[in-house]
Amino acid sequence: MKIAVVTGAARGIGRSIALRLAKEGYAIAASDVLTEQVNETAELVRQSGNKALALTVDVSKEEQVKKMFEQVVAELGGVDLLVNNAGVIARSHIVDTTAEDFDWVIGINLKGAFLCIKHSAPIMRQRGGGVIVNISSLHAFATLPNLSIYAASKAGLVGLTRAAALDLGVWNIRVVAVCPSGVDTPMLRDKPTEEENIATLNRWKRASPIGLILQPEDVANLVAWLVSDQARGLTGVAIVIDAGVSADLQIRKIPT
Ligand SMILES: NC(=O)c1ccc[n+]([C@@H]2O[C@H](COP(=O)([O-])OP(=O)(O)OC[C@H]3O[C@@H](n4cnc5c(N)ncnc54)[C@H](O)[C@@H]3O)[C@@H](O)[C@H]2O)c1
Repeated sequence: MKIAVVTGAARGIGRSIALRLAKEGYAIAASDVLTEQVNETAELVRQSGNKALALTVDVSKEEQVKKMFEQVVAELGGVDLLVNNAGVIARSHIVDTTAEDFDWVIGINLKGAFLCIKHSAPIMRQRGGGVIVNISSLHAFATLPNLSIYAASKAGLVGLTRAAALDLGVWNIRVVAVCPSGVDTPMLRDKPTEEENIATLNRWKRASPIGLILQPEDVANLVAWLVSDQARGLTGVAIVIDAGVSADLQIRKIPT
């Protein structure tokens, strides 16, 4: 039985990935700072007939990350797959953005992924290899106003993916990044009113040539393929999943 660790698995994309990987037969270690909701994810995995462990972990804290992998090894027997999905977003103009905001977002989105890679790779090595998937974002490549630190954290994660692929390839560990555009999750629905949330979702829909608002399952399906042997030729790359949004240069929409 293969074992997958999914961070930020309490809801949204992370929960969807945990449930999809369970369908592929993985035992799931679901971790998050939201204890009650991550327990629910683990319960849903168990209901689907798979082993599951729920762990309350802040990925930006090295001691907690180290302990998480020790506990996964003790209770599930090892680690074959890591999905660095935990993430936060901060929205403000760059000059209004504080150093504390920077440390918070980078601490979770980038340092958190680094810590999880650092502490899981030696365990994967002992098992003859593994796969690491970093959930980055389309914002790594093209972004929107007021998202400076978020965009920087996700671009950093793509760099980390390449560098980790080089260091870990010799241990038969593949490392890939997944870069979604807007996905219908609590992160995207974080506006003060439901009207604004719907407006955001509709904007992503209109920006897609196929008129699609990505759902968490769309990302989870891609992850399930990337971790399979069918994707054995992929490492050190970033895969964009954006319903066609980035194919459009937008220039024709600017009035002459
Ligand atoms: N929703 C989108 O439009 C979108 C697009 C591209 C990429 N992403 C990325 O996908 C990932 C999942 O996002 P989502 O949309 O499901 O958002 P979400 O807010 O629903 O889920 C993020 C999860 O991460 C957890 N988390 C936050 N800080 C943590 C910490 N310090 N330690 C552990 N867990 C922590 C949260 O509690 C939450 O359960 C994130 O990395 C996000 O940046 C999201």
